[in-house]
Amino acid sequence: MNIEDIKKALQSVKYPGFSKSIIDFGFVKDIKLEADACTILLDITSTAKEVEDELKKEIPKALPNLNINMIFNKPKVEAQKSNSVSGQNIVPQIKNIVMVSSGKGGVGKSTTTVNLAIASAMQGKKVGVLDADIYGPNIPRMMGVNGQEVEVVGNKAKPLNAYGVDIMSMGVLMKEGEAVIWRGAMIMKAIQQLLRDILWEELDILFIDMPPGTGDAQLTLAQSVPVSAGINVTTPQHVALDDSRRSLDMFQKLHIPIAGIVENMSGFICPSCNTESDIFGTGTCDDLAKEYNTQVLAHLPIEPNIRKGGDSGKPIVYFEPESITAKRYMMAADKLIAMLDSQGEVTNEAIQPIMPAGVSACSTEGQKIKAEHEAKKNSGESCGTGCGCH
Ligand SMILES: Nc1ncnc2c1ncn2[C@@H]1O[C@H](COP(=O)(O)OP(=O)(O)OP(=O)(O)O)[C@@H](O)[C@H]1O
Ligand SMILES: [Mg+2]
Repeated sequence: MNIEDIKKALQSVKYPGFSKSIIDFGFVKDIKLEADACTILLDITSTAKEVEDELKKEIPKALPNLNINMIFNKPKVEAQKSNSVSGQNIVPQIKNIVMVSSGKGGVGKSTTTVNLAIASAMQGKKVGVLDADIYGPNIPRMMGVNGQEVEVVGNKAKPLNAYGVDIMSMGVLMKEGEAVIWRGAMIMKAIQQLLRDILWEELDILFIDMPPGTGDAQLTLAQSVPVSAGINVTTPQHVALDDSRRSLDMFQKLHIPIAGIVENMSGFICPSCNTESDIFGTGTCDDLAKEYNTQVLAHLPIEPNIRKGGDSGKPIVYFEPESITAKRYMMAADKLIAMLDSQGEVTNEAIQPIMPAGVSACSTEGQKIKAEHEAKKNSGESCGTGCGCH
């Protein structure tokens, strides 16, 4: 065998998750052959261990008569802006995790998540959306990927992709129409699996569409990964604002920096004359934003095309980029990106330091961990959890 034969044989090795081979991608940088020993130098684009493992398995299979030595050059994982001082970060390849939350249901969280994610991707960011609304996953429909098969690589699932955004949702993993009753521990497991068992690429931003409220899902997420920013979606009525306060308070308790508030369904733009009329009251969120020392990312009108885009899987920001609404989503994405870029490292000592995910601080086990932590902290010794107490 000569070098050309080896290259030919390597044509059969696909880069994990793609249909192109490692040769076509140009990832094979050098091949050295001495007798039956062959050293292959590869530059790969992923830091995920699974990718390297898969190649270590597949390359020798393509060259069964040689002793193969593989050297991998991988990109360095960028330092994460972390508010996780517990050392818990199950997706280190993701630079920023943005939690989209609301005090109550039906205010437009999923719609906002989808359009903000696409707007961010349109501005050149590598973006993913994780639908963590395990009770009512509707991101797949809104992004037009419902019914698509999920590809499995090794023991992980590959996200789907639409409009330049990677997508994963319980909705594509469960049968359509299937109802699951989620209880505390199951919720935690499901959320963690949606992070850990999905082949997320290196992303600039992963938007997480949360179930409404401030429950187990939110807490699990904050305990499992550093959350760089929280976005609160609300409608402008005062009753909705009361619920929003709960959601904003939750961000504060979890030490999640608040990127801003999206005031959704704030007024109506007449499709025939383009005049904007106030229905639920607009601008009420400006005061709320001041109260929480944050900004309003956008005032988004009630617009039939937003709803239609959601129902048909054709998001307005992508299909009608010139509309007033699309421009407001783009501006909101701009503000979010500016906030993420300007933000230094954030910490979350109060909530994350000592409790492993899934252990409630109030449980007997939680109390024990807390007491041990306090004792070690007071003695000046490190508690060994990586919580930053020492
Ligand atoms: N600005 C808007 N104008 C018109 N319709 C909208 C607007 N925002 C959201 N909608 C529609 O309102 C409905 C609820 O929105 P969405 O599903 O995004 O809310 P949600 O907060 O995610 O709800 P849930 O709490 O049930 O997950 C959807 O049909 C959506 O298309
Ligand atoms: Mg939703």
